[in-house]
Amino acid sequence: MIVTIDGVAASGKSSVASGVARALGIPYVSSGLLYRAATLLGLEAGLPLHQAAALLAHLQGNSLRLEPRAEGNRVWAGERELTLELHSSRVDAGVSAVAALPEVRAWVDAQLRALPEPFVAEGRDMGTTVFPHAEAKFYLTASPRVRAERRAKERPEDVPVIEAALTERDRLDTVQSAPAPDAQVIDTGPLTLEGVIEEVLASVRA
Ligand code: C5P
Repeated sequence: MIVTIDGVAASGKSSVASGVARALGIPYVSSGLLYRAATLLGLEAGLPLHQAAALLAHLQGNSLRLEPRAEGNRVWAGERELTLELHSSRVDAGVSAVAALPEVRAWVDAQLRALPEPFVAEGRDMGTTVFPHAEAKFYLTASPRVRAERRAKERPEDVPVIEAALTERDRLDTVQSAPAPDAQVIDTGPLTLEGVIEEVLASVRA
């Protein structure tokens, strides 16, 4: 079984995916972490983020891989753990350029499709491109202000600055971020995290 949870930046996808996965007793898979890790390694190596061939060779040379677990995903480059370095503003600012490269998308998709089922997969295109045959699909939205206010609790930046960065990332991610036609769209604005998780679980179990 595969459950997909897609949505815009900072809509709560990974928290919801983690909660749903724990309730179902299965892992969740955070696809955005692979794009973030690709960006971090590219930045560290001083590679231009639009040069797909050099970037891909660098990723493969560094044995980049995702370890999905219900409590939280971890990302490794060989023996080095990258997980705690993936949510910096520097990575936020570069990741959309990396995610726009078809070669990188194909590489991420292949990694995800090789994972053993069952799992909950979260990202932008899990229900459309990567797992179109998933059993249950969800798409999370919320206004830019609500999302920025939530993220401001995790970052040392002001709400308007975060809101502007999120809106820009939404714009750059538009191509891969359309909801699947068979996805249930949930506006998380008026709901608590537990409320969203309950709504997803009720639909999965129905
Ligand atoms: O989900 P998160 O915000 O961590 O994703 C980081 C970035 O990775 C997104 O802004 C987007 O550019 C890219 N991404 C994507 N497709 C996915 C997941 C993430 O393009 N399935």
